[in-house]
Amino acid sequence: MTGDAPNGASIESLAAQLTLEEKIAMVHGGANFATAPVPRLSIPGLEMSDGPHGVREEMGRSEWRPEGRTDDYVTYLPAGINLASTWNRELAAEYGRVLGREARGRGKDVILGPGINIHRTPLCGRNFEYYGEDPYLAAELVVGEIRGIQSQGVAACVKHFVANNQEHERHTIDVEMDERALREIYLPGFEAAVCRAGALAIMGAYNKLRGQHCCHNDRLLNRVLKDEWGFRGVVISDWNGTHDTREAACKGLDIEMGTFLGQARFDEYYMAQPLLAAIKRGDLPEDVLSDKVRRILRVMAALDMTGLRPAGDRPAGAINLPEHQQTALRVAEESIVLLKNTGGMLPFELGEIRSLAVIGANATRKHAHGGGSSTIKALYEVTPLEGIINRAGRQVRVTYARGYSDDSPAGDLIPQAVEAAASADAVVILGGLNHDRGADCEGADRPDMRLPHGQDELIGAVVRANPRTVVVLIGGGPVELGEWHARTPGLVQMGYAGMEAGNALARVLFGDTSPSGKLTFSWPRALADSPAHRSERTYPGVDGVVRYEEGVMVGYRHFDTSGIAPAYCFGHGLSYTTFEYGPLGLQSGPAGSGSVTAEVSVTNTGNRPGAEVVQFYVADHEASVPRPAKELKEFQKTYLQPGETAMVVVELDRRAFAFYDPARRGWVVEPGRFTVSANASSRDIRAQAMIDL
Ligand code: GLC
Repeated sequence: MTGDAPNGASIESLAAQLTLEEKIAMVHGGANFATAPVPRLSIPGLEMSDGPHGVREEMGRSEWRPEGRTDDYVTYLPAGINLASTWNRELAAEYGRVLGREARGRGKDVILGPGINIHRTPLCGRNFEYYGEDPYLAAELVVGEIRGIQSQGVAACVKHFVANNQEHERHTIDVEMDERALREIYLPGFEAAVCRAGALAIMGAYNKLRGQHCCHNDRLLNRVLKDEWGFRGVVISDWNGTHDTREAACKGLDIEMGTFLGQARFDEYYMAQPLLAAIKRGDLPEDVLSDKVRRILRVMAALDMTGLRPAGDRPAGAINLPEHQQTALRVAEESIVLLKNTGGMLPFELGEIRSLAVIGANATRKHAHGGGSSTIKALYEVTPLEGIINRAGRQVRVTYARGYSDDSPAGDLIPQAVEAAASADAVVILGGLNHDRGADCEGADRPDMRLPHGQDELIGAVVRANPRTVVVLIGGGPVELGEWHARTPGLVQMGYAGMEAGNALARVLFGDTSPSGKLTFSWPRALADSPAHRSERTYPGVDGVVRYEEGVMVGYRHFDTSGIAPAYCFGHGLSYTTFEYGPLGLQSGPAGSGSVTAEVSVTNTGNRPGAEVVQFYVADHEASVPRPAKELKEFQKTYLQPGETAMVVVELDRRAFAFYDPARRGWVVEPGRFTVSANASSRDIRAQAMIDL
């Protein structure tokens, strides 16, 4: 973050010129998605926009509705869950560059993303926007994405800080969790975003943490974020997440946005007239504004915003470039997770199937416009059916049957689908969820993990009619797998794969590319197996309080430590080829460094090119506190031709072996024996070795 620049004067001198009223104007929204400018000193407003996987359509400045323009169609990138499922750091950076460039192209200074809240419950309506259940994976990918965004002269606004892990009562729920869970699970992604990627903005979450709203929370924002981590950017409230003038002024909020007063009366925001009046009455010192204003000017300087300097080298931005669409396709392809492929049914060989039945409402449904604030007006969206026809329509007779309806009674859709399946060589069922409220949508959680709209019955009947069936699930998290699952040879999880979803799916189904996606969440056999669902207290909460009693045992940390087998585990994903690992070598780093070098060879032992994500897990056998059976602490994605071998070498730093000790208020490595394993998934251990630290 540079501290120099605007108008050649320092930020200090510029701040000193501001009147009290001008300072007040800078710390709250002057429009739905912007702060007001200070024309007298040529300070521009900050123009903001959602969302994490594309720039939202232009919203009214004061009316809360889209303006209905024709120039705000944009690139619709795969959702956060898809980006994470690629386990590809470089691709995360490319994704960020596209998002940042499109935000600039639409004249934005702040993009309200990425969203990196941890998947604590499979039911959270916004899991599709986030990266999954593991803090290390989230940290590694968010760093690349934020650097990519900010390289385009746009501030990333990483969200929602912190522990916005459910939509149920999201504006008021009070999260109670122990310090180790906060430090080891819920903070690391944000810590990396701030301390490693230099995020210029961070969005306070709606919920409370330990009794205080996250948008003005002294310990979280002043103590941890600004003092301990040295954050020098701005804390922006979630929209309508501010609840009190004095709290907002004194407990770490820098910009109040979206306070909902019915008709948007920006002057009545908590940090508008009420704060001005409190300062004038002497109830609050004018100095409460100084740090806020300096932070805002610092962000503007870091973005080289023209209002502050002679036109610098701030990138111009652009929307809808072909290379942006290529990135969307690449992320989509690498995000598709092949969960099951019995008998190597996939990929379909075009030469040997002549007819293909495509079944399901999700074969033709578009998803860009749904999901809540992450809504996008996509320039186009290729559906799975379109993608399959694009790819194979000339060689294969493709038929379509709706199979189930996500918006009307089923009628005789199932018999029609069964007939289509019976008369085709192979079948692809597109099922799962969508962005309807109560599914993958902001503002509500899913009621359960079941597949909606009678899909279990449909899939069961279709697989009986034609066993050569692959089920492709669209959705942001796991669903209960019905009795059909054991009888179905192919199962694919494809998230919400963006504007090129259909083409990406077709390229995987017909073998143009091997799938390389890996699950970033555990797939419980039943909701009751999930660690968050042991009682009402732990989810959705009782009397406005939700208690994270599982502590650090989230996701695979829970399943592996308590010996409960999920249907599919964190890190699982098949390829069309196979990989063999050599022995794992461990080498202690320089004395006192606490680091360990791990190396393992990986060979593509099949006859197709493929990419393997080698995952390194650490287990601490002798700890004074309960530690998970294993924890992901490194990963490398490696592309290998048939027969090719690569040597994967990673550095496990001290933190990889540490746990957070609340008593010592820091990370501690206790001497003793550790096991490091090189895995193809959290449960598929390919090589392991022990080391004494
Ligand atoms: C929403 C979301 C947040 C979004 C903001 C602006 O309620 O929680 O993610 O960026 O408001 O739309």
